[in-house]
Amino acid sequence: MSFGNLIAFIKNDFRHYLKAGQSLKSKIGASIIVLFEPGFWSLFYYRWSHYFFKKRLAIFGLFFMRLNKFLNHVDISYECEIGQRLRLPHCCDIVIGATSVIGDDVEILNGVTLGASEVRKEGKRHPTIKNRVFIGSGAKVLGDIVINEGVSIGANAVVLKSVEANQTVVGIPARSIT
Ligand SMILES: CC(C)(COP(=O)(O)OP(=O)(O)OC[C@H]1O[C@@H](n2cnc3c(N)ncnc32)[C@H](O)[C@@H]1OP(=O)(O)O)[C@@H](O)C(=O)NCCC(=O)NCCS
Repeated sequence: MSFGNLIAFIKNDFRHYLKAGQSLKSKIGASIIVLFEPGFWSLFYYRWSHYFFKKRLAIFGLFFMRLNKFLNHVDISYECEIGQRLRLPHCCDIVIGATSVIGDDVEILNGVTLGASEVRKEGKRHPTIKNRVFIGSGAKVLGDIVINEGVSIGANAVVLKSVEANQTVVGIPARSIT
């Protein structure tokens, strides 16, 4: 990832949060709101940590990762891949593991974990979340599974198996209600 890419990602994140707050008439007012938005700052620190990880400057990456945890109460690994326009409303207590992959236009609420299903240190062990997925508050998505496009995951669900596109899943273990 080049420095130019990093800045482009951060600008896009800002624009996306700005657009979400466009109920305010004034652009300056909306921009100030974005600067008080923990979801934006969580992504901001993640983008820097991931940039330094890719540049093999892990110590700086870890610094931003830990700062994110300290300031925003989220643990987003600097190794994971996050696409464009991720929304993090009520952003707190979110854990995103190292080998997670998140597509575009995904929404993740508070208390969500994208975790490994077993304590395995090597290889792909966290979920892949495709585009336009919604993950309700408190949901746990565990293991190397694929949550396909347009899926909604209910609050507090525990998802242990891959989910087909456009399904809604709830419960423990999660089952489709579509
Ligand atoms: C999963 C969800 C998206 C489904 O919404 P929906 O399609 O409108 O579904 P419905 O409300 O019609 O419910 C359909 C069935 O699933 C059940 N259900 C819905 N959400 C559920 C959940 N999170 N856990 C368990 N069961 C759930 C309902 O009880 C209902 O069961 P029934 O048919 O036996 O009566 C939604 O319920 C949800 O969980 N959203 C998360 C919102 C959230 O996290 N809010 C926190 C904001 S801070």
